Amino acid sequence: MGGHLSYILGIDTSCDETSAAILKDDNEICANIISSQIKIHQPFGGVVPELASRSHLQALPLVVDEALKKAGIGLKDLSGIAVTTSPGLIGCLLVGLSYAKALAFSLKIPCTAVHHLKGHLFSGFSETYPFLGLVVSGGHTALYHVKSFDQIACLGQTVDDAAGEAFDKVAKLMGLGYPGGPLIDKLSREGNPTAFQFTRSQVKKGPMNFSFSGLKTAVSRLMPQKPHLADLAASFQKEVVGALIEKTELALDEVEAKLLVVTGGVACNSLLRSEALNLGKERGMEVILPSPLLCTDNGAMIAYVGARQLKQGKTMGADGNALASAPLW
Ligand code: KG4
Ligand code: ZN
Repeated sequence: MGGHLSYILGIDTSCDETSAAILKDDNEICANIISSQIKIHQPFGGVVPELASRSHLQALPLVVDEALKKAGIGLKDLSGIAVTTSPGLIGCLLVGLSYAKALAFSLKIPCTAVHHLKGHLFSGFSETYPFLGLVVSGGHTALYHVKSFDQIACLGQTVDDAAGEAFDKVAKLMGLGYPGGPLIDKLSREGNPTAFQFTRSQVKKGPMNFSFSGLKTAVSRLMPQKPHLADLAASFQKEVVGALIEKTELALDEVEAKLLVVTGGVACNSLLRSEALNLGKERGMEVILPSPLLCTDNGAMIAYVGARQLKQGKTMGADGNALASAPLW
C-alpha cells in the first residue's frame, strides 16, 4: 500500500446493527459491512438491549475482519478509527467503544468519537453548506440546519415517538411484524391512502417539532373495527410523510439551505423519497437521498465524519466514554 493512502475504519454498534466500514482518502467507501440483528429481536417485536449488546460483542470482530478483507487491506494499513459513542443503547455503544479504543491502542493510531446523528447528517457525503438535514430513524426524528461541519442547529424534533418508532408500533398493532417500516411501505402500495383521515398533531412549543404518538393511538382505536389493512397502512404512511414534509417546508422557509438531505432508516421509505424529490423540484433545490444502505445505521457515515474530525485533531484518549444521549451541538 502506498504511504499516501489513508484508510479509516468506521464502527457503529449504537443499536441493532453491527457495522464496520473502510473509507479510503476520506471519501471512497472500500467496504461497508452491516450485520443486522433483526432475526434476534423479531420474536420480541422490538430491540432487546441486553441481547443487542451481547450480539455486537460476537459480531464486531467478524464484521471488522470482513470489512478489511473486502477492502483488500490489513490492520496495519489503517491510519485511524472512528466509533459512535453517542447517542444509542449504552451497552451497545460500550462494545464498539471498547473495541475501537483497544484496537487503536494496539495499532498506535488515533481514535475519534463520533456522534451518531452527525454520521446520519453526513451520510450523503455532501459538504455544501448551509444545508437542511432531516434525520428520520427508529430512534430520532429531527431537522437540523447544518451551517458548517461544526455549526449545527436543531430546528425541531419529535416530542414523543420517532417516525420509525411510529411505523414499528403501528405495524405491531396491525399484526404485520417487525421492523414495521418496510412492511408498511410494501403493504401501502396496495392500499388507498385517502381511506382514513388523521388529525395532524401540532406541537405548541415549536412549529418545527414533530409528534407521532397521537397517530399511533388513532390507529389502535381503529383496529377493533377490523379495517382494510392495506388502506390503513397507506393512510398512515401518507400522514407520517405529510407531517415530515410539512415541517421540512417550514424549515426551508425559515433558514437558508443550498440542499436538503433526507436520511435515517425511514428515508428508505418510497413515499418519503418521492415526496422529498417533489419538494426539491418545487423549490428548485437539490435533494440528497443516500442509498438505503447509507440511510440506515452504517459504519461508512461514521468513518466519513471521523476522517474529518481526525484531520481537525479531535482524538479520543483512553478515558473516552460513551453516553446514551448527548446533544449534537
Ligand atoms: O436508522 P435506522 O436503521 O436505526 C435507527 O437509528 O433507529 O432506522 C430504523 C428504522 C426502523 O424504525 C424501521 O422501521 C425504519 O427505520 N424503516 C422504514 C423503512 N425502512 C426502514 N420506515 C419506513 N419505510 C421504510 N421503507
Ligand atoms: Zn441511526
